[in-house]
Amino acid sequence: MHLARCNSRGTLDVLAADRVNAVLARKPHAALALPTGQTPVGLYALLSARAAAGAISFARTWLFNLDEYVGLAPDHPRSYGRFLGRHLLERVDVADKRVRLLRGDASDLAAECRSYDAAIAKVGGIDLAILGLGANGHIAFNEPGADSTAGTHVVALSAQTRAVHQRQAGGIAKLPRRGLTMGVRTLASAREILLLVAGTGKQRALQALLRGRATPRWPVTYLHDHPHLTVLSAP
Ligand code: GLP
Repeated sequence: MHLARCNSRGTLDVLAADRVNAVLARKPHAALALPTGQTPVGLYALLSARAAAGAISFARTWLFNLDEYVGLAPDHPRSYGRFLGRHLLERVDVADKRVRLLRGDASDLAAECRSYDAAIAKVGGIDLAILGLGANGHIAFNEPGADSTAGTHVVALSAQTRAVHQRQAGGIAKLPRRGLTMGVRTLASAREILLLVAGTGKQRALQALLRGRATPRWPVTYLHDHPHLTVLSAP
């Protein structure tokens, strides 16, 4: 594991964007898994600016989102799909047919999960998984207790995660109780992982990762032995 403690979010954003540039320079048709949340907002702004300046291109890149709320279509205003659209997809030169967003509104969620895993497998797996971190150690929506062998699946969101998201969303009482998420198996099979740790309350989860013992109590610890894990942490 490579850990970089950054003095500021700005530094984290630049280092993260540089990793994306490096991966796409080596493999323009790479497959990326992309997070939602406050943490990657600066990264997405930088990537958008670089794309506008012609310094990076997503034209051949495969893009997947990590997770979604059950019940929300990718174009629902509060969906993770829309969040990614606003912050990145509409601001860079992605090809629509190379973007696969989880359908939280699918009538058959199990089939949607299988189809998502098949789409990831079809492009050869994830080259770079960019992850945020939940204060309870969750990665994507793999909450404490997560099965480390699962592919994409439906999860019940923890009370803690729902509380954080309700605060961020201005106290929306109708926040879904379930999510769809790439599983730990898929994330751990990514060729490279970039874990972004920023914001209050994340230090205990980061400490658990640094202790190096995999435990379902802190799902992020499942990544500890990954051969190409970079952790960028900022206040
Ligand atoms: C949500 C998402 C995660 C994200 C986490 C952290 O729970 N499902 O993928 O990493 O929030 O969000 P933030 O970056 O806003 O702290």
